[in-house]
Amino acid sequence: MTLTRKDFPQGFIFGTATSSYQIEGAASEDGRGPSIWDTFCREPGRIHDGTSGDVACDHYHLWPEDLDLLRELGVDAYRFSLAWPRIQPTGSGAVNEKGLDFYERLVDGLLERGIQPYATLYHWDLPQALQDIGGWTNREVAHRFAEYAEVVTRRLGNRVRSIATLNEPWCSSLLSYDIGEHAPGLRDRRLALAAAHHLMLGHGEAMQAMRALNTGADLGVVLNLTPAYPASDRPEDLAAARFADGYANRWFLDPVFRGEYPQDMWEAFGADVPEVQAGDLETIREPLDFLGVNYYTRSLVSAEGTQKPAQAQYTHMDWEVYPQGLSDLLVRLNREYPAVPIYITENGAAYPDERGSGETVNDPDRLAYYQAHLAAVADATRQGVDVRGYFAWSMLDNFEWAYGYSRRFGLFYVDYQTQERTWKTSGRWYQGLLNRAPVAA
Ligand code: NOJ
Repeated sequence: MTLTRKDFPQGFIFGTATSSYQIEGAASEDGRGPSIWDTFCREPGRIHDGTSGDVACDHYHLWPEDLDLLRELGVDAYRFSLAWPRIQPTGSGAVNEKGLDFYERLVDGLLERGIQPYATLYHWDLPQALQDIGGWTNREVAHRFAEYAEVVTRRLGNRVRSIATLNEPWCSSLLSYDIGEHAPGLRDRRLALAAAHHLMLGHGEAMQAMRALNTGADLGVVLNLTPAYPASDRPEDLAAARFADGYANRWFLDPVFRGEYPQDMWEAFGADVPEVQAGDLETIREPLDFLGVNYYTRSLVSAEGTQKPAQAQYTHMDWEVYPQGLSDLLVRLNREYPAVPIYITENGAAYPDERGSGETVNDPDRLAYYQAHLAAVADATRQGVDVRGYFAWSMLDNFEWAYGYSRRFGLFYVDYQTQERTWKTSGRWYQGLLNRAPVAA
């Protein structure tokens, strides 16, 4: 089946996404303060290949060329994040103008090229000074975040199409404080749930602060959602899948859309539940203009643990390729939560690409992944889900967090020695779908 734009609703936005720490580099230029990822990368054993985002894709310097590539790709929109420690090097107080200027140039550069800017305020690079007071486990950080959101929105709110508060708060809380895989790398469920609550509170306070500025940008949040399927209909497998769904999805969806934590999870977490002050859930529930959904895979769960079906395909992250999970997820959101416009703010796959000698890096598996997942999105729209756009993760190969540079997600291949960008076959295919430029043979 060949997908075309006609398979999607009128006005559907196609884009691609990146994040500040993963691509910018220039870690100590123009007054940028240290972030928790600078610290974390320096701790032995945290990053599989021992690297950091110090240089990354050097996008901080190469951004004009990168925006030219985006134009050639033909995307309608580009999703990027702002590094809080560039704008407020210690996470509060005076603004570092040079930091804000960088994003102003970026936004103007996008607009000049006819590409709509979709900004994300927090993609995990918390100023280290705020970690020094406890990071997201400290309620104060929620208030600091709302102030930062206001600073950015005052400057850029009238020029960006959309502002998302947080990217994947599950990762900044549970993956970072409970599972210990991301900065700051702790293993303490009580702290993780406190962090999750303050992230969501910060989201709600930021929404209110930005709403008051009335800039016209759409305001929302980006959640990573991983549908959990029971391995069988044994009651204990059903219960395990329900817990996995609560842990990954409902712990965030329910407060945002219903102003409450899911009762079953509240009970299951026992003494680890966060302190919730009067009014917090009302703040967290501030209405959204959109929900951003990041989808990569599903989980298949039994009472014994996560299952890996032998006949399935897996990406280089060892994540199952399961496009049906994306349409199921979208239909479920539509059924169980109040309707709100949805963007697929990330979807994509890592594969071990090699540069080779040809003009294009051949990545047939990634291309197939995109085709199947875009078909799943089109399918969900036909079932009545209001999906407004899709962002491929990622524009560039980049710093894949705990995996360093060992996992490649880009539509463009990056040679980290020379910083040369090379088209991948998937990028050419996406360009063909967008149909603004001729497709390479
Ligand atoms: C989601 C995160 O937002 C992004 O930073 C990351 O690179 C991708 N998942 C792939 O793991």
